[in-house]
Amino acid sequence: MTPLLTPMTFANGRTASNRLWLAPLTNLQSHPDGTLSDDELRWLKARSEGGFSVIESCATHVSLDGQGWPGELGIFSDDMLPGWRRLASAIHDDDALLLAQIFHGGARAMPTDDGPWSCSPSTDESRPVREATDEDIEAAIAAFADAAHRAHRAGVDGVEIHGAHSYLLCQFLSSTMNRRDDTWGGSLANRARLIRRTMQAIRARVPDDFIVGVRLSPENYGSATGLDLDESVQVASWLCEDGADFIHISLWDASRRSTKRPDTHPARAFRDALPSEVPLITAGNIWTVKAAERQLDYGADAVALGRPAIANPDWPHRVARDGEHPRRPPLTPEELRDRGLSDNFIDYMRRWQGFVA
Ligand SMILES: Cc1cc2nc3c(=O)[nH]c(=O)nc-3n(C[C@H](O)[C@H](O)[C@H](O)COP(=O)(O)O)c2cc1C
Repeated sequence: MTPLLTPMTFANGRTASNRLWLAPLTNLQSHPDGTLSDDELRWLKARSEGGFSVIESCATHVSLDGQGWPGELGIFSDDMLPGWRRLASAIHDDDALLLAQIFHGGARAMPTDDGPWSCSPSTDESRPVREATDEDIEAAIAAFADAAHRAHRAGVDGVEIHGAHSYLLCQFLSSTMNRRDDTWGGSLANRARLIRRTMQAIRARVPDDFIVGVRLSPENYGSATGLDLDESVQVASWLCEDGADFIHISLWDASRRSTKRPDTHPARAFRDALPSEVPLITAGNIWTVKAAERQLDYGADAVALGRPAIANPDWPHRVARDGEHPRRPPLTPEELRDRGLSDNFIDYMRRWQGFVA
């Protein structure tokens, strides 16, 4: 049997029944007020039924000023509690764990009356972003902690703090986007202060058996800039000291070595530095069992699948257990509907070239 189908233990002792996660995927299927829709539930439930042992939600906003897209499932108020309860119960019926990926868009949030804000003002006049005040930053930390506490009250198993992909926490970590010279900018310790304070605030609000992890972009993949492999490893180590139960690195193409150190795979650099009890999860373009197992060889403890899980809702059962070939894109809208995607999500997937036929 492939090791992908063996259990995985988090630093806090909770276990997942295998090493196959559904990656966090924005899908624009929830209601305009941020409450859960039947479409969002159906799409996630099809993946827990298909054997993924950890189901990550889309990036879900912790406050209205952090919302990234219309139709995004929210976690910013108790009005969202019934939906999260329903989702947790549906996922638990399949013996899978549910993690809410909690996030704030920062400079990339939808415009509000007060405008998006981030560590530093935007240099692009067509998209103004104001510089955060201490009050903005403290309010965001409190909103993250409230959101995690809300997830716990809803019966969700844990949260993943979204520190990747150039959203608020990643903007502060970036040496190019963060141009502050106060305690929130400059040295790595200062740039990492926001994500560490967020982790510490969450840990203080939830019990030990509630899973709290982090997603990071280790280097400048995709939209992330100003990131450095060694700095990212240091940030992950600090977050483990602050109580992280797992570290998830977003690689976009997990077959590639590090840009900074081409003889090293990013997973190896993290694994060598992190405490052995903290599992490491990798994601990015992992379609086959062989590619997933190679991640375990590099030092990952589990893999998260995004597009392969959209195309193959039952990847763990059909591909990992039964040895079938995964279905590859393009898929027709009818095929995607069959796989539990609504028309809004199918339209969104047209942005990924070659995915929708
Ligand atoms: C439609 C879509 C939505 C995504 N939404 C999120 C998100 O909400 N949060 C996040 O951290 N990453 C998001 N990602 C990135 C994925 O989690 C994943 O890291 C990336 O797609 C690479 O993995 P894959 O090749 O298995 O798809 C998204 C990717 C896609 C294709």
